[in-house]
Amino acid sequence: MSDSIRAENLSVIYRPRGSRRLLRQYLQDRLTGRQAAGFYALHDVSFTVPRGEGLAVVGANGAGKSTLLAVLAGLLAPDSGCVAVDGRLSTLMELGSGFHPDLTGWENLRLYGAILGMSRSELRERAEQIVEFAELQGYMDQPLRTFSSGMVLRLAFSVAVHAQGDVILVDEILAVGDAAFQRKCHRRLRALREQGATLVCVSHVSAMLESLCSRGIWLHHGRLVQSGPYQEVAAAFTAFINGENRHLWDALPDAPVRTPG
Ligand SMILES: Nc1ncnc2c1ncn2[C@@H]1O[C@H](COP(=O)(O)OP(=O)(O)OP(=O)(O)O)[C@@H](O)[C@H]1O
Ligand SMILES: [Mg+2]
Repeated sequence: MSDSIRAENLSVIYRPRGSRRLLRQYLQDRLTGRQAAGFYALHDVSFTVPRGEGLAVVGANGAGKSTLLAVLAGLLAPDSGCVAVDGRLSTLMELGSGFHPDLTGWENLRLYGAILGMSRSELRERAEQIVEFAELQGYMDQPLRTFSSGMVLRLAFSVAVHAQGDVILVDEILAVGDAAFQRKCHRRLRALREQGATLVCVSHVSAMLESLCSRGIWLHHGRLVQSGPYQEVAAAFTAFINGENRHLWDALPDAPVRTPG
């Protein structure tokens, strides 16, 4: 089976911007090629996801999960390493960030669909389905600022799951929306996976990951601590939260969090 995602030695460094460096220091650093000290949001992370599989990304707050998804989505260039994603991407992250409050529901639907790579004819074909899935019939002629925040997210989710991505990146989005809509979103993601899509899911809700993902990776301070079958990775991570398994983190070869200044 071929890989749908291949990430090799990914590192992302965040450097403080506009910090208190003097101009003289700044110029010196530029001339000597030295960089301001930063920290690794991701450090040397490698993994692959076979086509049609679901990968869960687990880890504590600040572990680097969203950073990893941003790199996979091509929104953030890694400082080193590389990533290859095969097929059309559809991202369910920061849902609705392409929306405009003064445009109507319909206009936003078309705009967001275009951002997600849908052609005009695909949009025409699927517009009714998108609105029906979002349960927003009767609202779409109104400007988006009149929608409740849950309604905005329904629209964004619905457009994204109708974009027919081969690879779907999901970052902690099912926490929004009411319980009935959450279940519906969940079912839809499962169906997409069963139809052959590759999923990468970030969530703190293990029930959702369990039903969507067969494999898992656990990040801690930007490092890959463990990868393997989802159940094993989830168990190791849970034990770590409960104060066990520290040896797994301690055993990583040189685990710098800060970069040299
Ligand atoms: N734009 C940024 N500039 C500087 N630092 C950032 C930026 N975005 C994230 N970080 C830092 O990078 C680290 C990883 O952040 P990230 O958002 O990837 O974590 P996460 O695993 O998604 O956490 P959460 O579970 O809270 O969503 C954190 O320490 C965070 O403070
Ligand atoms: Mg995050």
